[in-house]
Amino acid sequence: MMAWLLLLVITLFSLFLSLAESISIDCGTTGSYVDSNNVTWVGDNGFVTTGKPMNNTDVVTKPINTLRYFPTGQTNCYTNIPVTKGRKNLVRTKFYYENYDGNYSPPSFDVIYDGKHRDSIEITESSENDEERFYFSELIFAPANENISVCLIRTSPSHNPFISSIEVYSFDVGMYAELGPNEGLILQERYAYGAEESISYPLDPYGRLWLPSGSEYSLSLTDLKTSAPSIDITGVSNKPPEIVMSKALSGDSLILSNMGLIPLTGLPVYLALYFSEPQSLGRTQRRSFNVFLDDTKVGSRPIVPVFGKATQVILRDVVATSGSQIVFQSTDDSVLPPIINGLELYSISNSRDGGGGGGSKPQANSAVGGLYSQSDPISLYLFFVGVTLFNNTITVIDYFCDFSL
Ligand SMILES: *[C@@H]1O[C@H](CO)[C@@H](O)[C@H](O)[C@H]1NC(C)=O
Ligand SMILES: *[C@@H]1O[C@H](CO)[C@@H](O)[C@H](O)[C@H]1NC(C)=O
Ligand SMILES: *[C@@H]1O[C@H](CO)[C@@H](O)[C@H](O)[C@H]1NC(C)=O
Repeated sequence: MMAWLLLLVITLFSLFLSLAESISIDCGTTGSYVDSNNVTWVGDNGFVTTGKPMNNTDVVTKPINTLRYFPTGQTNCYTNIPVTKGRKNLVRTKFYYENYDGNYSPPSFDVIYDGKHRDSIEITESSENDEERFYFSELIFAPANENISVCLIRTSPSHNPFISSIEVYSFDVGMYAELGPNEGLILQERYAYGAEESISYPLDPYGRLWLPSGSEYSLSLTDLKTSAPSIDITGVSNKPPEIVMSKALSGDSLILSNMGLIPLTGLPVYLALYFSEPQSLGRTQRRSFNVFLDDTKVGSRPIVPVFGKATQVILRDVVATSGSQIVFQSTDDSVLPPIINGLELYSISNSRDGGGGGGSKPQANSAVGGLYSQSDPISLYLFFVGVTLFNNTITVIDYFCDFSL
C-alpha cells in the first residue's frame, strides 16, 4: 500500500513538473544561461529558420542585447515553442529597438500567436538609451497542442519586424476559467495599486507584469498597506500575487480611466478587479461599494473586501473604448471609501460570441494607463508609457501628466 502511495505521489509530482512547463527564449542568441532569478534562457536556433540574429553592442542587459530581425518575407514564424496543453498559458514577447539597424526608424508590425491571436506592435521611440524600458505584448490562452507558433507579420514594406525575447508561463488549473478554448486575452493594462515598484516573476510565479499605480498625483486618493500578516489568496481563481493584494488605493470618488490603448471604436474586454480589506475593521466600520464599467455593473452584489483575504470580480464581453471609465460608488451603509488593489484589463481575441475581437487590431502594449479622482478640483491624468527591467526588477520609469481643469 505504501509503495503504491509513493508511486502515486511520484507520478503526481512528475506530472506536476511536466505540466508546469515554462520556457524563455532569448532571440538572436545561441546556447543557454541562467539569470539572477534562476530562469533558464535558451537561444532561438531551434525555433526559427528565417531572419538574422543581431547583437546590439550598445546594449548590455540580457535578453534584450540580442534580437532577430526579418528583412524579407511577409510572415516569419517561431514554431514548436513548448506550452502546457490543457492549461492557460501566458506568452510574452519583448521588443527592444534601440536603433539596432542604425536607421532611427522604429518599426510597426503585427504578432500572431498560435495562428489566431493578433496584437499590433508599434514602436515609437528610436533610441532611449534606457535598458529599463521595453515594448511588450502579452497573450493568455489555452493552447490546443503541446507547442505553439509566434509569427511576426510585416504590415509596411519599409518596416522590418524584429523580436528580442519570447517567454511562456503556464498557469494553474482554474486560472482565467472564464476564457473559452478558442479565445485569447490580449493585455491592455495590469496594475498593482498602491505599489511603488512593478511586480513580476518570481514575486508573481505566473510571470505576469504588474505596473505600480499610486496616489502621488491626486490629493483625494490615498495609498493603503494591509495590516494583515498575510493574505489568503486561495479563494481567488486568478491567483493575484499576495504582494499585489497587500497594497491598495482608496478615495471617496474613485474613477479609473484612460483605458490603455483600446481604440475609440471599442473592443470586447475581460476586466478582473482584485480587493483585500487592509484594516481590521471595528464593529461600526464598513466598506462596501459597487463598481461599474461605464454603465455595466461589475459583479452581482456590492463588493465588501475581507481583511486578510482576497476578492475577485470579473466582467467580460462588455465593449470598452479608450474613453471608458471604471467608477466606484459607495453603498449607503458604507462608512469607509472604496478601494482597489489590482486590476487586469484585456481585449478578448477570437471572442466566442463573435464579438469582434478577432478581426480587430488592438494596439501594441506598452502598458499605458492612468487614473484620476473625480473630486479633485484639478483632474490629473497619469499615463505610463513604459515599464522598466533592471536586474530583473521591473519599475515604471516614464510617464507624463496631463493637467486638465
Ligand atoms: C537559485 O537557485 C539556487 C540553487 O537552487 C538557490 O540557492 C538560489 O536562492 C536561487 N535564487 C533565486 C533568486 O531564486
Ligand atoms: C554576437 O556575439 C556573440 C558573442 O560575442 C558571437 O558569438 C556572435 O557571432 C555574434 N553574432 C553576430 C550576428 O554578430
Ligand atoms: C507540435 O504539435 C503538433 C500538433 O500536435 C505535432 O504534430 C508536432 O509533432 C509537435 N511538435 C513537437 C516538436 O512536439
